[in-house]
Amino acid sequence: MAARLGTTHVDTAGAYGPRVTNQLIREALHPYAASLRIVTKVGAVRDQQGGWPPARQPEDLRRAVHENLEDLGLASLDVVDLRLGNAQGPQPGSLAEPFEALVELQQQGLIRHLGVSNATAEQVAEAQTIAPIVCVQNMYNLAHRQDDELIDDLADQGIAYVPFFPLGGFSPLQSTALSVVAARLDATPMSVALAWLLRRSRNILLIPGTSSVAHLRENVVGAGLTLSDEDLAELDKIGR
Ligand SMILES: NC(=O)c1ccc[n+]([C@@H]2O[C@H](COP(=O)([O-])OP(=O)(O)OC[C@H]3O[C@@H](n4cnc5c(N)ncnc54)[C@H](OP(=O)(O)O)[C@@H]3O)[C@@H](O)[C@H]2O)c1
Repeated sequence: MAARLGTTHVDTAGAYGPRVTNQLIREALHPYAASLRIVTKVGAVRDQQGGWPPARQPEDLRRAVHENLEDLGLASLDVVDLRLGNAQGPQPGSLAEPFEALVELQQQGLIRHLGVSNATAEQVAEAQTIAPIVCVQNMYNLAHRQDDELIDDLADQGIAYVPFFPLGGFSPLQSTALSVVAARLDATPMSVALAWLLRRSRNILLIPGTSSVAHLRENVVGAGLTLSDEDLAELDKIGR
């Protein structure tokens, strides 16, 4: 969940699959606040083994959008991200067919804004030749900075960048430099990693995951930490 730009952003494709996650979001947050933006991802399904095989045929996407509307109790979805690539990361190739299917649903009034996820810079550019996008959700954190250039480019265009695995995901971030800066600030390494992301660019929205209320509190503290130039220089070395 990320709060920036005066709105709260909720990411719906959690570990248990979008249908369960959406039901929990509805139970917890319905009726939805006017400032809440629920961001849905379509383009993969949760299988019995816990994997996310692609489901990007136009009929898969239409079904996913209708299921999201039903589960969230909405007449239209604020933002829908097209999930691309696979578990190894973004994969090259045209997104035209699935993205155009979402544009059709947008034209029918079922989607307000579009985004892409797990996308290459070329796919982001291709999407923009088809329809405007408002956000890109890709893997990025202190140690994985492959999207540095893309983030700056999107910031110039006023498009949000939402880093997934902001804390390293299944391999939590660990680094001496991070621990040193955290000790200096009397903060936890994870909250410093989140503060660094917020400082990295004004278009970054955070969606750190946690199953612990204590960690959630620590992570919210990260938003308020002020990093000095010296802290930044040390943290920047981690991903270089
Ligand atoms: N677009 C995509 O393809 C894609 C792919 C993957 C993930 N995502 C999304 O990205 C978001 C974040 O992903 P994620 O949750 O897997 O990765 P993450 O936010 O990088 O890391 C979560 C891990 O960090 C731990 N953690 C969180 N706060 C902590 C703290 N203060 N101290 C110590 N450990 C802490 C959590 O453990 P505890 O539970 O113990 O706190 C959990 O193991 C989710 O919304 C997810 O749906 C999107």
